[in-house]
Amino acid sequence: MQVVKHINELRTLLDHSRKEGLTIGFVPTMGALHAGHLSLVELAGQQTGFVVVSIFVNPTQFNDKADLDRYPRDLQKDLDLLSSSLCQLVFAPEPNEIYPEPDTRQFNFGTLEQVMEGKFRPGHFNGVAQVVSRLFDIVQPDKAFFGQKDFQQLAIIREMVRKMKLGVEIVSCPIIREADGLAMSSRNMLLDAVQRQSAVHISATLSEANNKTGDLSVEELCRWVIARINENEQLKTEYFEIVNSLTLMPVMSWDEPCVKVGCIAVHCGKVRLIDNIEFTKKSIQ
Ligand code: PAF
Repeated sequence: MQVVKHINELRTLLDHSRKEGLTIGFVPTMGALHAGHLSLVELAGQQTGFVVVSIFVNPTQFNDKADLDRYPRDLQKDLDLLSSSLCQLVFAPEPNEIYPEPDTRQFNFGTLEQVMEGKFRPGHFNGVAQVVSRLFDIVQPDKAFFGQKDFQQLAIIREMVRKMKLGVEIVSCPIIREADGLAMSSRNMLLDAVQRQSAVHISATLSEANNKTGDLSVEELCRWVIARINENEQLKTEYFEIVNSLTLMPVMSWDEPCVKVGCIAVHCGKVRLIDNIEFTKKSIQ
C-alpha cells in the first residue's frame, strides 16, 4: 500500500494502474477509520481492480468550528488499519492541496438539501459537494463507495454526479453496526462510557419503530420515536423524519408507494449521532 500527499504523485500512480487496465475504486473518508469504512474498502476491492482511499478532514463541510476541532484524527492508526485491507493507495492531502484557493462554488440540490441534515447543518452539503467533486476530479474513479448511514449525503452525491455528468458509479453500502446495534461512526469514539451505553438506545428505538408501523400512523410513530429517545437523559433528538427514499420528502401515510426511511439525528452530550432505518414492508399493514 502506498501513501501519497500530493496530487501529482497520486495521478502518476493512477495512470500506471489505468494503463494496466485496472478499474479504479474510490473510498473518500475523513479518517478515524472503523469497521464501517473497512467494509467500503472491502466492497471496493471486490468490485474494482485498484482501490484508493482518501483521508481528509474537509473543513468546508463543518458548519460548527468546535465540531471540526473535535473531529478525531489519527493518521498512523488509519494507515495501520488500511495496510491489512484491500486498499492499494492512500491519498492524505493537506488542506492547501485540495483548496489552493478558497472554493466559492455554490451547489444547488433543491429540496434534497433543505431537509434534515441540510436544515440543521446549513452549508454542510455544499462543503461535501465541494470536496467530493474535487476528489472525483483528482482521482477520476470508475466507482465510488459511500455508506448508507449518511443517507442524505448519498442522495446529494448521486444528484451531484447526475447534474455534473461525472461518469462515476456511486455504490451505496450497508450500515455497519456494533454488536449492540449502534451504527458505526468516527464520532462514537468521542462518547464517554455512559454516553456510549445510552447511544445504543437510538438504533434500538429505530428497530422497535419498525415493528409499530401497523399500529401507529406516520405522524404518531415520529412522535413516539422522539419521545422514546428523549426519555434517556443523555439523549436529545434533533429530528426524526420518515421520508421517501428518493425525494427525501416527508411521507404522510404508510400507503404512499415508495420506500420509506426513518432518519434521525440525536445529540449525546456534545456528540451528534445520525442513523436511519428502511421500514420493511412486512410490518406495514
Ligand atoms: O462521509 C464522509 O466521511 C465525508 O462527508 C466525505 C464523503 C468523506 C466527504 O468529506
